[in-house]
Amino acid sequence: MKGHRTLKPTLQDSGTLQPLDEILARSVMQDLAREARAWRFEVAPNPCVGAAILAGHELVAKGFHEYYGGAHAELAAFANAARSPIPRSAWDTLLVTLEPCSSVGKTPPCTEFLLKSGIRRVVVGALDPDARHQGKGLRELQAAGIEVLLADDLAPLGEVAPHFLGWTSSERLRRPRPWTIAKWAQTRTGQLVPPMGVGGGRWISTPESLREVQVLRGRVDAIITGVGTVLADDPRFSVRPPGNPARPPWKIVFDSYLRTPPDAALFRPAGPGEGSGPVHILCLAGQDPVRERALREAGAQIHPLHVSSEHEFSLREAQEWMWSQGLRRVLLEAGPTLLSSYLAAELVDQLRIYTGSINGGQGPSMGESLSRLQLAERLDREWGSDAVLEAFLGSGG
Ligand SMILES: NC(=O)c1ccc[n+]([C@@H]2O[C@H](COP(=O)([O-])OP(=O)(O)OC[C@H]3O[C@@H](n4cnc5c(N)ncnc54)[C@H](OP(=O)(O)O)[C@@H]3O)[C@@H](O)[C@H]2O)c1
Repeated sequence: MKGHRTLKPTLQDSGTLQPLDEILARSVMQDLAREARAWRFEVAPNPCVGAAILAGHELVAKGFHEYYGGAHAELAAFANAARSPIPRSAWDTLLVTLEPCSSVGKTPPCTEFLLKSGIRRVVVGALDPDARHQGKGLRELQAAGIEVLLADDLAPLGEVAPHFLGWTSSERLRRPRPWTIAKWAQTRTGQLVPPMGVGGGRWISTPESLREVQVLRGRVDAIITGVGTVLADDPRFSVRPPGNPARPPWKIVFDSYLRTPPDAALFRPAGPGEGSGPVHILCLAGQDPVRERALREAGAQIHPLHVSSEHEFSLREAQEWMWSQGLRRVLLEAGPTLLSSYLAAELVDQLRIYTGSINGGQGPSMGESLSRLQLAERLDREWGSDAVLEAFLGSGG
C-alpha cells in the first residue's frame, strides 16, 4: 500500500502527534487478534475484529465485533472508552485488527464514524481482502489528515479470521450464495429423533440450548427446513426472547410437491413478544394449482425451481435464489434428509451441533456424514448438560 507508514521497531514522531508507544501497540494488537477470535462463530461471515484506543502510553479500552449485525469493533472500543476515566481529549490512537470498513453493510461505514471521532492515528493489522474495498478506508482516513500505519505482521487475516478469506474469495464473489449455518440436535448416537416415548418424540437438547438457538434465529435472515420436518414436528420457527424478534427470519420450506399443510403452525401469527417471518415454499414446477392456491391463501409465497435430477431441484440454484432475495446469513434447521443433501453438495459453511444426553434414537445417524467433513477452527464446549460442537467447513469459499 502506498502512503501508509509501516510499523517499524522505532517510529519517528510524526510532528503533530506524540510518538506511538510501539511496544504497547504491538502487544495490544496481538491481544486483540487473539481475543477477537472468541466471536468467530457469532460474526461469520463477517470477520472477527478487535479494536483498542490508546492515550499516549496508556490503553484506554478495547472493543470487539461480537455478533452478526452488531456494532463493529471500532465503535465498541469507543463505547467502552467512554466509561474510562481517561478524558477523550487524550485519546490519540486507534488500533484495529482489520482495515475499517468504508461501505454500508449492516451498519454505516466505520470510516465515517472515525472521521468524526477526533482520533488522529489509526494502526491497522490487516488490509481488507476484498479487492473492491482494499485500501479505500485507509485512503479516506489519510485524506482527512489521520495518520495511518500498517502492522500486518501482527494480525494476519489468515490467522484471525480465515473464514473471511473464503467469504471474499473470487469464487464466492463470482457465484454468491448466503452463508449457511447447519444446526441440529442429536442424541449420543448421532440421531436427530429421540427414541419412542422420549422428549415428546422431538426434544433432544436442554432448555438452555433451545434459548441459545432463539438468539441464533434472531441473527439470521432465513431459517431453511424440509417438508419432512414440517410434517413430523409442525414447527413454528418463530423468534422468542432471548432472541431478537424485531426482524424475524424468513421461513423457507423445501417442499417439491407442496405437501405442507395449509393449516401448519408455520403460518400462525406471532404471539405476544414473538417474531414470525414470512413463509416461502420452494417446489418443483407444475404442482397441483388447488394445493398451490390453498397455500397462498394461508400466507405462503410459492417459488417453483428447475429440476437438477429426476426428483430434486438444485440446492445451489435454491441458494442463489436466496442470495437474489437479499438473504446473506441463513440457518438450516432440517431433518437428516435435507441436511445430508446440503452437506453432500458442500453448501454448508458452519456447523452448530448440540449433543444431548439421550442414548439411542430413531432414523439415520449423522455420525457418518460428520466423520467425512473437514472441520476447521473447531470449538467444543459444554452448555448445560449438552455438548456443543462448532466449526467452519472447508474454506467457506
Ligand atoms: N434434531 C434436530 O435438530 C431436528 C431438526 C429438524 C428435524 N428433525 C427431525 O427430523 C425428522 C424429519 O426428517 P426428514 O429427513 O424427513 O426431514 P427434512 O430433511 O426436514 O425434510 C426432507 C424432505 O425435504 C424435501 N426436499 C426437497 N428438496 C430436497 C433436496 N434437494 N434434498 C433433500 N430433501 C429435499 C424432500 O421432500 P419432497 O421430496 O416431498 O420435497 C425430503 O423428503 C423429524 O422426525 C424431525 O423431528 C430433527
